[in-house]
Amino acid sequence: MPENDKQGLSVVTCTAPVNIAVIKYWGKRDEDLILPINSSLSVTLHQDQLKTTTTVACSRNFQQDRIWLNGKEEDINNPRLQSCLQEIRRFSRKRRNTGDSTSDASSVSHKVHICSVNNFPTAAGLASSASGYACLVYTLSQLFGVESEQLSAVARQGSGSACRSLYGGFVQWKLGTQLDGKDSLAEQVESESYWPELRVLILVVSAEQKSVGSTSGMHTSVETSQLLKYRADVVVPSRMEEMIRVIRERDFPAFGELTMKDSNQFHAICLDTYPPIFYLNNMSHRIISLVHRYNQYYGETRVAYTFDAGPNAVIYTLQDHLPEFVQVVRHFFPPEVNGEEFVKGLTVCSADLSEELKRDINMEPTPKGIRYIISTKVKH
Ligand code: DP6
Repeated sequence: MPENDKQGLSVVTCTAPVNIAVIKYWGKRDEDLILPINSSLSVTLHQDQLKTTTTVACSRNFQQDRIWLNGKEEDINNPRLQSCLQEIRRFSRKRRNTGDSTSDASSVSHKVHICSVNNFPTAAGLASSASGYACLVYTLSQLFGVESEQLSAVARQGSGSACRSLYGGFVQWKLGTQLDGKDSLAEQVESESYWPELRVLILVVSAEQKSVGSTSGMHTSVETSQLLKYRADVVVPSRMEEMIRVIRERDFPAFGELTMKDSNQFHAICLDTYPPIFYLNNMSHRIISLVHRYNQYYGETRVAYTFDAGPNAVIYTLQDHLPEFVQVVRHFFPPEVNGEEFVKGLTVCSADLSEELKRDINMEPTPKGIRYIISTKVKH
């Protein structure tokens, strides 16, 4: 419930998690409503390591809506921000008119001041828009009394992937068929506690801003890539079914292989875009080789990578394989810093590497190739 003082100031603070897609969303059929050309599926990450925190204050004394992101004031007239604000206010009024709301009747006409901060680098390919818009929409809904079933459609209009951050665990965003987008919604496939052994590492190779944002990148892909149409029409529908099945069966080798194939296809589409888009860099390519060589050594998929619109790798693995793989990363990317400064987040036990494993991987070490690792897991 919002804190409400005598001056009519209401304040609400909420947090929202990051999600990382294993079947990627890339391409819109409607850019205003943010309707995708294919369904997608993601894993929501634990908020202890990665989250957005948003505070919204609302007062009759505020002259205008305003927003600060990571301490810097941004343009409130951003069309996507405006869509979210308008939609939440519309739902809140509707609820009030039907007599369902218990919150202060006047506040929906008051202006808001929004402050949002991330505990991770913005726009480094770590899906900050997803947690950012999910958090904004959720916090506004708490302030203005809007029901949770409506939030996924509102968050989607801020940033497509944001609709998936409203749920924990394994989440699908169904593309829907309606023109108004009312059925283009996120829903939970399995809860956060379904697969507790699943672990996540984010290998941060660069904290720089990405060169081509997802929105403009996917726009060019829709305009120019013939592969994209094939992916949306033929590949993703069957991959969605398979992904849901392997998650339900907790089949890591199948989950990992499909995750890597889908990441690779997304980046193939980026190359098929004209002019081409390069999100991966040399370090990303080396991480891809390392993962394949490691899996090859064991003759099974123990570790899987996925990359979004940036060079940082997200690694999925199982708890049992985590210490050794982190040691492999340390060996082949000798870090500048050690201990907790290199591996942040959840503690990873130390492990010894056999000479045979190092020899079989057969890669030249790249000192300082990875700046740091964030060790985390599925949200619960
Ligand atoms: C590669 O959701 O950031 O991370 O809807 O234009 O805001 P907009 O795009 P955005 O795109 C995310 C693309 C991706 C894949 C994914 O998260 O599914």
